[in-house]
Amino acid sequence: MKARILGTGSYLPEHVLTNDDMAKLVETSDEWIRERTGIRERHLTDQGTLHMACEASKRALLNSNVTADELDMIIIATFTPDYLFPNASCQLQAALGAPNVPCMDLSAACSGFIYSINTAAAYIQAGMYKKILVVAAETLSRVVDWEDRSTCILFGDGAGAAVIGADETGILAMDMGSDGVKGPVLYCEAWPITNPIVNKGKAGKLRMNGQEVYKFAVRRLPKTIETVLQESGISVDEVDHFIFHQANRRILQAAAKHLNIPAEKMPMNMDHCGNLSAASIPVLLDEHNQSGKIKRGDKVVLAAFGGGLSWASALIIW
Ligand code: UT7
Repeated sequence: MKARILGTGSYLPEHVLTNDDMAKLVETSDEWIRERTGIRERHLTDQGTLHMACEASKRALLNSNVTADELDMIIIATFTPDYLFPNASCQLQAALGAPNVPCMDLSAACSGFIYSINTAAAYIQAGMYKKILVVAAETLSRVVDWEDRSTCILFGDGAGAAVIGADETGILAMDMGSDGVKGPVLYCEAWPITNPIVNKGKAGKLRMNGQEVYKFAVRRLPKTIETVLQESGISVDEVDHFIFHQANRRILQAAAKHLNIPAEKMPMNMDHCGNLSAASIPVLLDEHNQSGKIKRGDKVVLAAFGGGLSWASALIIW
C-alpha cells in the first residue's frame, strides 16, 4: 500500500505588499530584492493562520473529491499558529467538521510540509489510516522584524493543503534530516520568561544569518534530491516536475545547475508570494496542479530546507 496525493488546495490573502511598498518601510529597492531573491511582492493576512488553513483545506478536499467526515487524521505544519493550544489542527477540525479524528501540529519550519506528508504516508503505509489532510499554513508577518531589511523583504503569508490517501501508487521515496548544531543561523525565539522573579522582555522575532543559510541550502538541496532519486531508482531526466521550497531563486538555480534540471521542469512562484516557509511547497504544488500541468502518473520531486536546520524530500507518482 502506498500513500498518494489525491488533491491539493491553496490560499493567499488578498492584501499584497510590493517591493516598492517595502521600500517605504525599510531602506531597500525593488531592484535589490528582485535581483537577490526573485521576489516582487508578497501577500499579508489580517485574519491569521487558521483562516488561511481552512480556505486551503476546503479547496484541497474539493479537488480530491473527499469530504471532511471521511478524514482519519489532520496534520498542520506551522510555526506561526494563532494559539499555542488548542493546536491549529484541532481548530481546523472544528471548522471543517471531521469529528473525533486525531489532530496534530508539526513544527519543522520550511521543511514542515514534506515532514508532514511523510508522516501521513507512514501512517497510511502502516495500514492505520486511509485519508489524511495535510496542511501547511504560516502567518510569517507576525514573527518578521519589520525593521530588519535583511529578513522582512523575504517572507509572506499563505497556506497550502493536500489530501493523502491509500492507493496502489504514490510516494516512492522519502528523505528527512536535520542538523540542530546549525540551528542558531535561522531561528525565532518563543515567549520570554516573564514571571514574579524575572522579566525577559518581548516575544521573539525571526533572525537569520542569510549567507550561512544560503551555503547550507545550495549544498543540502541537491543531496536530499539525489537521495530520493537513488532510493527509487529514477533518474533526473525521468522526473517531470521539481517542486522546491521557494526561498530564493538563486539557490534553486544553483541546485538545478548541479543536477542538470531544465528550467521548464522547475516552476517558481516566489515572485508573487515570497518565502512562505512550510506553506511554500503546497502553494506552488497547487498552482501547478490547478493549471493542469501535473498529469496522473507524472513523477514529482518535492524538496525543502530551512530552520532546524532541516531538510526533506519526497519522490511521488502523481
Ligand atoms: O526559508 C528560509 C531559508 N532562508 C533562505 O534561504 C535565505 C538564504 N539567504 C539568502 O537568500 C540571501 O543571503 C539574502 C537574500 C537573505 C541576502 O542576499 P546576500 O546576497 O547574501 O546579501 P548580503 O547579506 O551579503 O548583503 C549584501 C549587502 C549588505 O550591504 P554591505 O554590507 O555590502 O554594504 C547588506 O546590508 O546588501 C545589504 N542588504 C540590503 N540592501 C538593500 C541586505 N538586505 C538588503 C535589502 N535591501 N533588503
